[in-house]
Amino acid sequence: MRAGTVRERIDGESRVGITPEGAFVLTTAGHEVLVEAGAGEPAGYPDDSYRAAGARIVADAAGVWEGCDLVVKVKEPVASEHPFLRPGCALFTFLHLAADRALTERLLESRCPSLAYELVRRPDGTLPLLAPMSQVAGRMAAEVGAQLLKHPGPGRGKLLGGIAGVPPGRAVIIGSGTVGTAAAHVLSALGARVTIMSRDLPRLGYLQELFGGLVATRVSTPDAVADEVAGADLAILGVLVPGAPAPKVLSRAMVRSMGPGAVIVDVSIDQGGAAETSRHTTHSNPIYVEEGVVHYCVSNIPGAVPRTSTQALTSATLPYVEAIANRGLEAALREDSALARSLSTWNGTLVRGPVAEAFGLPAAPNPFL
Ligand SMILES: NC(=O)c1ccc[n+]([C@@H]2O[C@H](COP(=O)([O-])OP(=O)(O)OC[C@H]3O[C@@H](n4cnc5c(N)ncnc54)[C@H](O)[C@@H]3O)[C@@H](O)[C@H]2O)c1
Repeated sequence: MRAGTVRERIDGESRVGITPEGAFVLTTAGHEVLVEAGAGEPAGYPDDSYRAAGARIVADAAGVWEGCDLVVKVKEPVASEHPFLRPGCALFTFLHLAADRALTERLLESRCPSLAYELVRRPDGTLPLLAPMSQVAGRMAAEVGAQLLKHPGPGRGKLLGGIAGVPPGRAVIIGSGTVGTAAAHVLSALGARVTIMSRDLPRLGYLQELFGGLVATRVSTPDAVADEVAGADLAILGVLVPGAPAPKVLSRAMVRSMGPGAVIVDVSIDQGGAAETSRHTTHSNPIYVEEGVVHYCVSNIPGAVPRTSTQALTSATLPYVEAIANRGLEAALREDSALARSLSTWNGTLVRGPVAEAFGLPAAPNPFL
């Protein structure tokens, strides 16, 4: 098989889909690997390191898309990449289709088979390709939130951890999965007063034991969320309903109730955002103020630490890339239900019910499940 990767085009995105180590594994197994010139540079992988691994450096992205049976990326293709999508070349990347109608329509029209990292799901419900990035994003959300409370900037000028004689700030995390737990680790270490909320009571029980009183837990009914966020200094939103738009857990009134200079980090923005006031921002222009509250809504947070994130992501993706390359796409999908669950478009049909529902499009059953 010919597998390849291209430079990421999204603002502030410096991760790369295949490392030289991954390229070596694939070329050693007899596959060809094509890499767009400079694709790995921002993550610390020069072209020569790919050449040494047996990969072929291709001058531009078009050459990779045209020459490959499988393109392994990090983030969803942006508009300038849409023309490259075609039936004979499968796409394996973060897709977040429920937040991107234009890309969904283009994938259908092009008949490009697409597989979404965030939907690879093991039978026990774990998300092996999303989890490493959620760990990075959760930790960074806490760091960014603490930083945005400081001056200069519109934050309320508070040290989240407090000091002797001055109480710490109050942080509310909504979502008790990987993002929420990683954020709770950092915020509790900083000394903030942290409450983590979700509707998953067994998970809250586990976290209560894990943090041993350093973090409070609370079931997230709308009333309870309103109660917790009123006057809070920081809210981190890490909710997920796999493959569907993020549930809106913070209404505009709840955002207003946090008060001027509070901060929201909406990690769920890649699925459309979990606050009514959230809208996409970028690493170049990461914040805006609405209802007096600072919003940070960057959809590729781990892109800011490309070395760590690329290593973590590609360690998780490589076994699936190898399976597709060694077995062929259809056999790999038939043999591994975790991978089959990631299938989003196939032969010009949408096989993801929640995405179809979000856009009022027809859906077909996933032929591999
Ligand atoms: N912005 C970024 O750069 C970035 C990076 C990584 C992950 N993410 C996103 O962060 C989100 C969370 O990811 P994760 O890996 O932590 O997911 P996860 O599945 O581990 O956790 C999701 C949590 O949301 C909770 N939840 C779902 N619906 C809820 C509701 N209505 N009210 C309260 N809680 C609810 C679940 O109980 C669970 O605790 C996802 O949308 C993911 O794509 C974004």
